[in-house]
Amino acid sequence: MAVGQAGGRWVVVVPQTGQVPGPPWAATCQVGDGGETVTVAVTAAVTAVMGTGTQPTEAQCDSLEGRIYLDYNATTPLAPEVVQAVWDAMCQAWGNPSSSHPAGRKAKELVGSARESLARMIGGRPEDIVFTSGGTEANNMVIHTACRHFHESQRGTEDRRGSPHIVTSTVEHDSIRLPLEQLGKEGLAETTFVPVSPRSGQAEVDDVLAAIRPNTCLVSLMLANNETGVIMPVAELSQRVCALNQRRAAEGLPRILVHTDAAQMIGKGRVDVQELGVDYLTIVGHKFHGPRIGALYARSPGIATPLHPMLFGGGQERSFRPGTENTPMIAGLGQAAELVSKNWEAYEAHMRDVRDYLEATLEASFGKQRIRFNSHFKGSKRLCNTCNFSILGPGLQGRRVLANCKVLLASVGAACHSEKGDRPSPVLLSCGIPPEVAQNALRLSVGRGTTRADVDRAVQDLVQAVQQLERDWAP
Ligand SMILES: Cc1ncc(COP(=O)(O)O)c(C=O)c1O
Repeated sequence: MAVGQAGGRWVVVVPQTGQVPGPPWAATCQVGDGGETVTVAVTAAVTAVMGTGTQPTEAQCDSLEGRIYLDYNATTPLAPEVVQAVWDAMCQAWGNPSSSHPAGRKAKELVGSARESLARMIGGRPEDIVFTSGGTEANNMVIHTACRHFHESQRGTEDRRGSPHIVTSTVEHDSIRLPLEQLGKEGLAETTFVPVSPRSGQAEVDDVLAAIRPNTCLVSLMLANNETGVIMPVAELSQRVCALNQRRAAEGLPRILVHTDAAQMIGKGRVDVQELGVDYLTIVGHKFHGPRIGALYARSPGIATPLHPMLFGGGQERSFRPGTENTPMIAGLGQAAELVSKNWEAYEAHMRDVRDYLEATLEASFGKQRIRFNSHFKGSKRLCNTCNFSILGPGLQGRRVLANCKVLLASVGAACHSEKGDRPSPVLLSCGIPPEVAQNALRLSVGRGTTRADVDRAVQDLVQAVQQLERDWAP
């Protein structure tokens, strides 16, 4: 590879073979309609997405050296099309989207087109999408906004209502639970954590509504739970809150904003903000084969729905989330969204088939009496890819079983709780699963590329792990 200037132009010669030498990497870059060719050194970031030295292929993106990955709710590998989009953006759209010259315009175009792709994926409008660093930031931004919205709604009113009150469920992700607990500790907000019903695994709409107080300013309910896969009644909740808001407006009470964290649902089922009727929706790229950034949908932010920035800076994202745009990752997120828009029904059907096969194979291999499915709730819908189950018996704690597996890669619950030892998952306990069953829980989540043959190998692996543990356990 050679880099230099020729005739006032930057040139780079990249080998014509499929192999790209690296790292460090370099690539030819066409800069907008000016047509200059420049070289950019793309080192750590590209190495991070590309691995070591080859162009992206499906096999490379998924490579796990013979292990079976059934932890797609924790994260997903980048789709090859996404890697390509990230790579292309790094090479061809590295300009600052705020610059008015061709390099900047090209980057800006890419950001705009990714915004359109995200909007299309969830049935919103491009202007409703704000790119963020990920789901955690999007969720925090909603909570921050709701508190500001509450205080602004109190401005000028004689009858002040103290601190903002937020209603959520006991099974939300930590990026909802922990900021709310923190605000509570600081005396800045009050939260009601509505328990999920042991009958349905859902936070029931009536229970959420019953928790609403005059000072309530936000209801946040995840669309699908990351551990059980149970889908929550968000559309019904939004409708009921909307009706309630009309009555509250007449009484001078603050409007209740409605948020859903759709991290686990996107790419696995229908997500349409019009049908859901929410004011905000959290999008997490790495859950649908996109990069580790995210976005927040807000219905007409700053006009119909308040949105208050947590950061202040250069005015990007209409000042809702300033900071120079991470163009390559945004391009990758846009590509991941395109894949979901085009294929989500096929993805869903495939994952449901494989997940159902997994559950049938587990029962056939261990016997119906030894397997307890922790997310089968009568009448509740659940994610197409998630199987949360316990293998009953002493000494078969989920973590021990996984530690004895030779090929299966899975988890016992949310990845962010992985350091919490053998304590049973609080999510399962809140769903009414007895502690001795919950401590044996395993969460297997299948993906777009998981096959029935993968399931056979994973279940065989579990069988041998359990046999091993039982031998160790025997007196
Ligand atoms: C339901 C849910 N919400 C939010 C997040 C956080 O997203 P991020 O990892 O992008 O911060 C996750 C991912 O772990 C999740 O499962």
